[in-house]
Amino acid sequence: MLNFKSGKSFVSNKEKNKKLLKTTTNKRKRSGIELKKKLESSSDGPSTTFEAKKKKGNNSHSPNFKTAMTIFKRYCPGLGHDGDGLYGTLTNNSLHDIMTEIQPKGKTLVDIGAADGKVLLAGLAFQANFTLGIELAGDALEIKFNAMINGIKKKTNSVFPTSEQVASLKCCTDITSFKSGNTSELLITCFPRSFRMKPGKHIVICAVWHGFTITAKQSLLKRLAKSHFVKSFTLVGPQLKDYGKPDEVLEYMKEQNPRCTVYKVSSLPVKLSGGGEQYQAITFAY
Ligand SMILES: C[S@@+](CC[C@H](N)C(=O)[O-])C[C@H]1O[C@@H](n2cnc3c(N)ncnc32)[C@H](O)[C@@H]1O
Repeated sequence: MLNFKSGKSFVSNKEKNKKLLKTTTNKRKRSGIELKKKLESSSDGPSTTFEAKKKKGNNSHSPNFKTAMTIFKRYCPGLGHDGDGLYGTLTNNSLHDIMTEIQPKGKTLVDIGAADGKVLLAGLAFQANFTLGIELAGDALEIKFNAMINGIKKKTNSVFPTSEQVASLKCCTDITSFKSGNTSELLITCFPRSFRMKPGKHIVICAVWHGFTITAKQSLLKRLAKSHFVKSFTLVGPQLKDYGKPDEVLEYMKEQNPRCTVYKVSSLPVKLSGGGEQYQAITFAY
């Protein structure tokens, strides 16, 4: 449109906003695609795509991943154990798919609602520097987790996990019981000896949250909305329950912090042990 007085073209505010929205959406799309490409191509994880890997099955699992899962299975005794893990944990293949997606190599992997630490073991196999779990249930899980780590070390002559890798599970800890704040503040409180603040987006989070109360879900999302050092977070649960859909998650986080830049990256079909429920693992990035 032309401004006849000045001779310059001018665009109405409505058109400007439309243009801005389009550019932002395109930017988001582009960065989403770039991140996805990065996640697929970088690091040590198998470079095969999800579909190709599904066909290949366990053959694509690294020796460290296989060792971790074998030891995990050996430590069956415990409440609600169904042979694969505590009832309702991810199957080995699903866990492998999630790790391939989020690429925790060199990062701090945090599992919120970690149970006996199966996700943490997988993170170590995918070369996370730190694997930290927070769990509501009792101390026995901590003892079991440490025993599994020792079992893996024994089996691999202390080659895996490496001496630089840190693994810690904190039980008897309810994520709703902390003062509101960001993820780093939660980790400093829970792991004063293990967690170190450092610049950059070095934290990846996983939460298999189908058993969480709505308060626990909101407490986690509120914290994530205020976090600066989190690269991505993955939520696993039924789509029809509270915050089961990506849009609900994004809307809630935006309400908590309007400057939060989070967006959805991917959605993977995953399966739980025991009942065999099929859920989506939805990954978001900043
Ligand atoms: C389905 S299990 C997932 C276990 C583990 N992440 C895995 O995939 O193997 C969910 C866990 O979240 C824990 N949980 C539920 N509410 C929690 C809360 N408010 N704070 C911490 N952990 C919680 C439960 O005790 C349970 O062990």
